[in-house]
Amino acid sequence: MQVKKAVFPVAGLGTRFLPATKASRKEVLPLIDKPLVQYVVEEAVAAGIEQILFVTGRGKRALEDHFDIAFELEAHLYDKGKEKELSHIREISEMVDIFYVRQKEARGLGHAILCARDFVGTEPFAVLLGDDIIDSERPCLAQLLDVYRKYRGPVLALEKVPMELISSYGCVRANHISDRVYEVIDMVEKPKREEAPSDLAIIGRYVLTPEIFPILATQEPGKGGEIQLTDAILKLSREEAIYGCQFEGIRHDCGDKLGFLKATVDMALKREEFSKDFREFLEMRICGK
Ligand code: UTP
Repeated sequence: MQVKKAVFPVAGLGTRFLPATKASRKEVLPLIDKPLVQYVVEEAVAAGIEQILFVTGRGKRALEDHFDIAFELEAHLYDKGKEKELSHIREISEMVDIFYVRQKEARGLGHAILCARDFVGTEPFAVLLGDDIIDSERPCLAQLLDVYRKYRGPVLALEKVPMELISSYGCVRANHISDRVYEVIDMVEKPKREEAPSDLAIIGRYVLTPEIFPILATQEPGKGGEIQLTDAILKLSREEAIYGCQFEGIRHDCGDKLGFLKATVDMALKREEFSKDFREFLEMRICGK
């Protein structure tokens, strides 16, 4: 069965990015000129996703407005003859079908995914976290879907991270089965460095099957008192094989202030219209020229 639906959980509190996230969502922070979440929606659409469900909490207005038709703005751009800007704005609202559901309380990523049960129904589905921006030739989700099509089981995005950072991630023990593909044997959420089973971290892209829902429905809170998706996937791994895809590409953790800064610099250096000026500016600042 083809994967046509994606779930975007965006109901977390974003405490690493306070105070910017006090009144607005981190997913709408602009990376140069686009909100973070738009990069991820574009990745999903490029991988063949046709319907997206946002699992939202408080402060969802800016997110909804961004993907809605903006009549007043469009009329203004039309009157001023700004056709290029007008077509960019229209493209955003026409990109994909978007739905919303509310997670009433931020009880963890696993609980946010459970809120998508009715939307997903009986199909396999993708999960994308809006603060992991992945810059890659082939969209990261498309790489996971290649693995899903071949092995017909849930797939997690994996990245090797330095051991001193592993305690910030979900971490897997896994057997390497083919180029960049692993079978996941065990998973631990945010392990202490000395207890981590490997340096392979779970990154914010998943392909899951609906079998995850009955597990999530009875899942007890885990690390941090939250209902953890990792714990539920670990339970699922006792019923069916779970795969890992070590994707090709550069990931930026934009839910973190330093990660966001690095992403901004990286993306700006790649943008033709200002890469030369920006590079000169950085060189001047760094070398004191
Ligand atoms: P994070 O672990 O990044 O948590 O959530 P957070 O609250 O967003 O940010 P910090 O760590 O406090 O800074 C991973 C993903 O799961 C979503 C978040 O929106 C993010 O996309 N999430 C988390 C929910 O949708 N609901 C929750 O209850 C928790």
